[in-house]
Amino acid sequence: MTTTYNRIAYEVLDVCNGVEMATIEGAIARAGLPAGALAVDVGTGNAGVAIAMARAGLTVTAIEYDPVMAELARERIAAAGVDVRLEVGASAEVLGAAEPLDLIVALGTTNVNGEGRPTPEAAMTWLKGRLKPGGWLLWGDLVWIAESPAPLRQITEAVNLYTDDAGWKAAAKAAGFEVVWSEVSAQAVFDAYVAGADGAARAWLDAHPDAPEAEAVRGNADRVKMIMEFGRPFIGFGLYLLRR
Ligand SMILES: C[S@@+](CC[C@H](N)C(=O)[O-])C[C@H]1O[C@@H](n2cnc3c(N)ncnc32)[C@H](O)[C@@H]1O
Repeated sequence: MTTTYNRIAYEVLDVCNGVEMATIEGAIARAGLPAGALAVDVGTGNAGVAIAMARAGLTVTAIEYDPVMAELARERIAAAGVDVRLEVGASAEVLGAAEPLDLIVALGTTNVNGEGRPTPEAAMTWLKGRLKPGGWLLWGDLVWIAESPAPLRQITEAVNLYTDDAGWKAAAKAAGFEVVWSEVSAQAVFDAYVAGADGAARAWLDAHPDAPEAEAVRGNADRVKMIMEFGRPFIGFGLYLLRR
């Protein structure tokens, strides 16, 4: 099977974002949902978060549009022996057709509503429409922690728009959510995530120097490393527990 930088990196990570699993689990527990509540993990990646949600007693559907990642998610779900339904497709189509939900978890997604590069408010407004009244959104994404140099912002926002902590909270309120809890990850947590992904890619390249995917994996690893090294003073990760 073919592999990619994302698959190699996500295979070694608990969470494919700069946040710890315990923080995500704690945020979900705050929602106080009953067993069996309907939940979706949008952009499940390695399915680690979806598996944790199932272990917390929720009825979970995981959505993933990258077929290589979906294969990893399928393997992880089977190995965990939990009941998570995996839908391979884009969030806009799959969630658009889903029944109203008690909880949506969306951590590090892009183009969540099918619009291309939705503003934070547009992405959250669309997700709010997929929730039952009183339902919950656990949103996590990159946060500008200091004023970004314009070129860094242009490169980082080529496919997705980000804002600062106050901007995410304002977007949530404008979308009609109450911000119940939030946390910007400690920089050490973000650094551990970046180092974990890079270390996995370098180890894979050492072990597979002649693999057909090596050039693409090296190119992606170098690009991410460059952005993260230059961007370190400006980029963090924020987690927002929002109630409709
Ligand atoms: C940064 S990873 C995060 C994975 C997981 N949510 C976590 O936090 O561990 C984002 C994943 O979401 C998938 N993804 C992003 N946007 C998506 C969308 N609109 N629909 C389906 N999958 C999406 C990507 O392919 C990738 O695997």
